[in-house]
Amino acid sequence: MSEVDRFSLVQRLLHWLLALLVIPALGVGMTLGWLGFDGARDAFGMEVTNALYTGHKTIGVLILALMTLRLVLRLTLGAPPPVPTLTSFERLASQAVQAAMYLVLLALPLVGWLATAAGGYPVQFFAWTLPGLIAKDPALSEQLFELHGLLGWALLALLALHIGGALQHWLVKHDGVMRRMSLFR
Ligand code: HEM
Repeated sequence: MSEVDRFSLVQRLLHWLLALLVIPALGVGMTLGWLGFDGARDAFGMEVTNALYTGHKTIGVLILALMTLRLVLRLTLGAPPPVPTLTSFERLASQAVQAAMYLVLLALPLVGWLATAAGGYPVQFFAWTLPGLIAKDPALSEQLFELHGLLGWALLALLALHIGGALQHWLVKHDGVMRRMSLFR
């Protein structure tokens, strides 16, 4: 398969970096959402709980920044032409899942940012505190956190479809789809 049929190196690097960041963002987010602040403090202690919140927000903001860059690159550099052996259903389904993942991976951290700010909590990014962007409004914060949680479940469902499809192309069909995003020859 020639170089032309793969995504550019920067697009492939961003894909795998985001894959590495999304796993802890979802895992820690679901743990914090399930336990709540008090439950997390009782289970892990204050220091670890604070680190989990700060880490979750930091990784989330990183995902938002990298997804924005990814969207710009996708719109400017485009994608290699589809593998010719794909059925029209496969082409449509993969495009729909990928478009939905762009949308959810941009909306999810943005909603988390706004929910945090509306709750009066700091939007932490490593050692910095970023601007909240909206005023404190606890009722709005509660609604936004609910939306944040729903988007988290939507992301989990999309990831299952995305990874399931990729594994099928890689291990069952051996049709070169996986090589388009692979870091290796
Ligand atoms: C792609 C990035 C992100 C993912 C995948 C993600 C995922 C999640 C999930 C699944 C939950 C559990 C929600 C629930 O069950 O109620 C959660 C909770 C939370 N998220 Fe995120 N999140 C992301 C980005 C952010 C960002 C950027 C912020 C803030 C700057 C943030 C702040 C929070 C906070 C504070 C909680 C805990 C809410 C609580 O204590 O109940 N998240 N996140």
